[in-house]
Amino acid sequence: VLALSQVPASIIDGLRKQGFNVVQVVWKRFPDGEFYLRIPKDEISASEIFIVTTMYPEQSERFVELYLALDALRGIGVKAKSIAILYLAYARQDKRFLPGEPISIAALLRPLTLYAVNELVVVDIHAYETIASEVKELNIRNILPHSYLAKSVGIKVDFVLAPDKGALHRAKSVAEEYNVGYDYLEKFRDRISGEIRISEKELDVRGKHVVVVDDIVSTGGTLAKAIEALYKAGASKVYAIVTHALLVGNAIKKLEDVGIDMLITANTIIHSEVPSWLRVVDISPLVAEALRRS
Ligand code: R5P
Repeated sequence: VLALSQVPASIIDGLRKQGFNVVQVVWKRFPDGEFYLRIPKDEISASEIFIVTTMYPEQSERFVELYLALDALRGIGVKAKSIAILYLAYARQDKRFLPGEPISIAALLRPLTLYAVNELVVVDIHAYETIASEVKELNIRNILPHSYLAKSVGIKVDFVLAPDKGALHRAKSVAEEYNVGYDYLEKFRDRISGEIRISEKELDVRGKHVVVVDDIVSTGGTLAKAIEALYKAGASKVYAIVTHALLVGNAIKKLEDVGIDMLITANTIIHSEVPSWLRVVDISPLVAEALRRS
């Protein structure tokens, strides 16, 4: 496995424990900001390898890094059999929401086919369908980690809520695992200002332990609105299980202001700030299993 620059140390350790030989790229930034990498060629003896990366922080640079790594591998005659992308950035722009916009995720993944990469392992991809239809050559193995995260921490689950319709498949998979009910909220986001609105809905959560499941918490706006709605509807405890906790800007404060109890997340990115209510679970066993099946 070739690990790119921002892969969390816990994932590298975990993959090693699972028996993978993990080699890390050597990298630096030039004074003007350009990214440089080198693959320690002497440490790679196989002709086919796996790449593991994550596209955060500095999402745009991470794609540059990936393409530099693929070219470097080509230079030493090594093929990337599969790429595990722990957090796939740019995946939310998966439609031309407004005329004149790109389908960013398709634009950024399509060049992978130039390097004969046709298999990706992705942890909780935002929306699978776009990639499947826009970049048909790519075969995607999607890891949905929510139930694994819930079980690792051992929480009680009475009901599962998706904060919007797009997250309904996540709620369904956890609800089926725990044999409980699930529902979703109707969320509207202003495409220009980014402002979120959630419409009123009757939720059957009085006195229950409710889990909100989602793929990303970025500014915390979506999750905060869901937590507020659940407490208003009488939930006794609200947990959140969100795969990628970017927690940008004042997200931490926003979530504390609505009384977040616990946010369980995966180690798909490096977490520089870990408040007491954030539980980061190592998902390297899931990644290892997906790579083995590639
Ligand atoms: C949107 O469809 C995603 O699944 C997340 O709900 C969203 O990206 C969360 O963003 P924020 O934390 O900024 O509300």
